[in-house]
Amino acid sequence: MLNKQPIGIFDSGYGGLTVFRSIADQLPDYDYIYLGDNARAPYGNRSFNTIHEYTWQCVQMLFEMGCPLVILACNTASAKALRTIQQRDLIHEDPSKRVLGVIRPTAEVIGNYTQTKQIGVLGTKGTVQSKSYLIEINNFFPEVKVHQQACPLWVPLVENGEHDQPGADYFVKKYLDQVLAKSTEIDTLLLACTHYPLLQGKITAYLPKHIKVVPQGDIVAASLKDYLNRHSEMEQKLTKGHTRQFFTTSDDTDDFDHHASMFFSEQVKSEYASLK
Ligand code: DGL
Repeated sequence: MLNKQPIGIFDSGYGGLTVFRSIADQLPDYDYIYLGDNARAPYGNRSFNTIHEYTWQCVQMLFEMGCPLVILACNTASAKALRTIQQRDLIHEDPSKRVLGVIRPTAEVIGNYTQTKQIGVLGTKGTVQSKSYLIEINNFFPEVKVHQQACPLWVPLVENGEHDQPGADYFVKKYLDQVLAKSTEIDTLLLACTHYPLLQGKITAYLPKHIKVVPQGDIVAASLKDYLNRHSEMEQKLTKGHTRQFFTTSDDTDDFDHHASMFFSEQVKSEYASLK
């Protein structure tokens, strides 16, 4: 495996596969390793320290598997662990390695989607509490007002395969009502959680027609493409064998494969990665 230098994609579980789908579509030639920490997912309600500890452990596993570049395809991990990893851990471990998240690339462009300059950001409790989107979007678009909404029941709905069932409608409506009550001027809703694209059909059906729903997979993939164009020292390290390997920290790889195909829109065969 070490003769390959794949791009590592990390998520707390399955959700990052929606981001990986877009990355694999836009950058098909590279080798990839996906790692889902399903044994300890979801991360959404966990503390800052725990999310950092778990994320850094998984990033190190991806480094050991040969990845010089790791994407945290998880909003919660990007919000709560990325800064410490970039500013502290990497310097001790190996400064030539890179870890990138999903929040900054999304914040860089989301302001271009709104006419009214009012955006709703839907995420996990952890992402919302971190205020990362609020801060990052206001860095790039100071004129945009950001209304955050935590949707803590949406991840469990998706994880339990209930997202396309009639019972999900109640919880979709509940959080959309809450965010829309914050301002009548919102014309853009950002799905700032990897699981929410699976609810996009129900979300769109419930909203007034003038409100745009923006998932982030394509945005993150376009940003990675741009990053690799600008960083030839990293681009040249990465191998291009068009392989995709999937690892999960859960010992039930069949269960992972079953769920993963739903998120990745393709059959997946995973291997078990044991947490030390
Ligand atoms: N992947 C997480 C995110 O994007 C959602 C799942 C979790 O809470 O671990 O925020």
